[in-house]
Amino acid sequence: MAQHTVVGSRMSYLSLTLILAFSQLVFSDDKLPIAAHTMFPKGFMFGAATAAYQVEGGWNADGKGMSVWDNYTHEHPDFVALNENADVSDDSYHLYKEDVQLLKTIGFQVYRFSISWPRVLPNGRTSYVNQAGIDYYMNLIDDLLANGIEPMVTLFHWDLPQALEDIGGWLNPDIAQLFEEYADLMFKTYGDKVKWWITINEPFSVVWFYGGNSAGAPNLNLHGTGDYLSGHNLLRAHGKAYRLYQKKYSHQGGKLSMAFCGPMCQPKTDSKDDIAAAERCYQFSYGWFAHPVFRGDYPPVMRELVDKNSKEEGRTVSRLPYFTEEEIKEINGTVDFFGMNYYTTNLINDGVIGDFPSVTRDAHYLTSFDPSWPSSEADWLKIVPQGIRLLAKKVKEEYNNPTLIVTENGYPQASMDDYERISYFESHFSELRRAIYEDKCNIIGHTTWSIIDNFEWRKGYTNKFGVVSVDFNDPKRTRTLRRSAEWLQHYLAMHKLIQ
Ligand code: NOJ
Repeated sequence: MAQHTVVGSRMSYLSLTLILAFSQLVFSDDKLPIAAHTMFPKGFMFGAATAAYQVEGGWNADGKGMSVWDNYTHEHPDFVALNENADVSDDSYHLYKEDVQLLKTIGFQVYRFSISWPRVLPNGRTSYVNQAGIDYYMNLIDDLLANGIEPMVTLFHWDLPQALEDIGGWLNPDIAQLFEEYADLMFKTYGDKVKWWITINEPFSVVWFYGGNSAGAPNLNLHGTGDYLSGHNLLRAHGKAYRLYQKKYSHQGGKLSMAFCGPMCQPKTDSKDDIAAAERCYQFSYGWFAHPVFRGDYPPVMRELVDKNSKEEGRTVSRLPYFTEEEIKEINGTVDFFGMNYYTTNLINDGVIGDFPSVTRDAHYLTSFDPSWPSSEADWLKIVPQGIRLLAKKVKEEYNNPTLIVTENGYPQASMDDYERISYFESHFSELRRAIYEDKCNIIGHTTWSIIDNFEWRKGYTNKFGVVSVDFNDPKRTRTLRRSAEWLQHYLAMHKLIQ
């Protein structure tokens, strides 16, 4: 068992805990004046999140197949900062029990983790199942439940089986059926124990791996075409998995969603053009995937702009594929809650950037940061707590106030004395409470990214998002609680007092 060093003073936290809990117990929730809402409503779920490729290691252990990330990092080591890869990473494949104990120690009620598709299906297909992989996740789920932690399972967090990439990956329409078959096996195997499912993590990120500028594996750089095509098949795959669950597994009583993402898009000025540009930014990120699953088809502005540009380029077929009537029906209404990943906000103004063709050119907006927003150790992440509230409000308005879970939110800081991370969570929690109590958004949970430092994709191990640090030079991958973990521990203890 790795050491779990707890740093900081307990006494001050404890007295604060008691004072705040007392005020909450004396006044019932709806009698509290808004400003006094220091706590989340009863039943609000707090959890922490990870993803298979980022934490597991064991890249070829016990019959696991190769994923696109294994393949890409091995073939092109210079793709990742300091030539790192996640062959071993946190070694959670062997140390998952330590992770569960950390979650328990901090007091998280939910663990959001992902299943590595090639670990359970080495070739991506159900014709060959790797029993050791199946057992690994069963053991993890059982250990979570035995420790009073609810599993929330992501089926696809970017580590596509290389065997499927070899036939085109998300560009090949067959992937929708292959994903459905994989999902079927997962629902059948774990569905009596797992009640929260995320089909696809950040589809808006996945499309950049096909169409962006060297964003991630398989790194195809098919600007303005590969992005729309892969996005189309991600949506078709999600729709099929959801309908399958409804048909075959509804008795399990689980809830399904995607984890949608993007920045909060804030107009740079109050000019009409910038407000419209910020709206396009939303619709080309969260809306790209949320609109079809809540409303049945792409956001009208996407359809209009990509069709228009495709025509101007002399194409007879739009770069944004069309769904058939049947597909629209299949995809419409396929989320039970809104999984929202939020880290930061961008200022948006009208303008054009990017090669032709490209998503950035189609969407026709420019991004910047307000110089007053504090920076972080990740160049893309500025601290903008009000963004989480504004985004939740936007989601409420767009899709008729769906149940919402913040499926990711977190801050990169390497120091053990990570006071900035504490302040990030404190300020974001506070804005979330305002979204709940003042804007009446139906937010029921938050999962922190991340419980442990892990492989941050192209940044390797240079951006550390863990509330628990991991010593990657130590073969035992010793885990040590940061100050933020202790802060969360007290925060969650206080929250539990009102349950
Ligand atoms: C979103 C992704 O889902 C996750 O894999 C990544 O590590 C975090 N953002 C932080 O960048």
